[in-house]
Amino acid sequence: MRIDVVTLFPEMFQGFLEGSLLGAAQKAGLLDIRLSNIRDFATGVHRQVDDRPYGGGPGMLLMPGPVVDCVESVLADAPASQPAHVAMLTPAGRPLTQQVAEELASRERLVLLCGRYEGFDQRVCDTLAADQISIGDYVLSGGEVAAMVVIDAVARLLPGVLGDEQSAVDDSFSGTDRLVEGPQYTRPREFRGLRVPDVLLSGDHGQIAAWRHKQALAATSRRTSPTTGQPTQTS
Ligand code: ADE
Repeated sequence: MRIDVVTLFPEMFQGFLEGSLLGAAQKAGLLDIRLSNIRDFATGVHRQVDDRPYGGGPGMLLMPGPVVDCVESVLADAPASQPAHVAMLTPAGRPLTQQVAEELASRERLVLLCGRYEGFDQRVCDTLAADQISIGDYVLSGGEVAAMVVIDAVARLLPGVLGDEQSAVDDSFSGTDRLVEGPQYTRPREFRGLRVPDVLLSGDHGQIAAWRHKQALAATSRRTSPTTGQPTQTS
């Protein structure tokens, strides 16, 4: 999979991309992540990329020209057989869920467009007909951290990226029931008086699976939705 990140701050990604999971995935040729700087497409002596909103209001907006030129140059650098999915990171986007991460991971090419300042000129969205993704109902100072969240969630779903193939399948929010994972234990059997539940030591895989499912249901119903304040358990 190839992921292009279009940003004003490519240096923010350096440590993140060299980190263990993503660094190894890139070395193994499973993932190709490239960074493009919107500033390289700025024109004029001041290489301006942002300006005040028409009609007034606070902050600055990214101008459409440099952003669209940058994305189009990224799109031009690819065979037609590999159409790219362009996604903008914005708090106004559709919420990132495990299901959305799975959908993005099924693409061969992804272009992630990071906003800064107060956002993008509307004509960036209109011109690129881009998907819009939010990582939560809060406002970050830019889309870079949100793009890193998307990259992490997507990369670990790619075949071969996680050491143990099963671990992405068993994750919270995965599978048909999309439950969160219940509690997990490792050694020692007792820590500060807290014992590992006997069923996990029983060796009875049927019982263990039933216990885990029950715990996952309970953990899921304890969670509350950030938007409704209601438990998220639906079934
Ligand atoms: N940019 C600023 N806030 C954001 C958010 N919550 N999700 C995605 N991109 C953003």
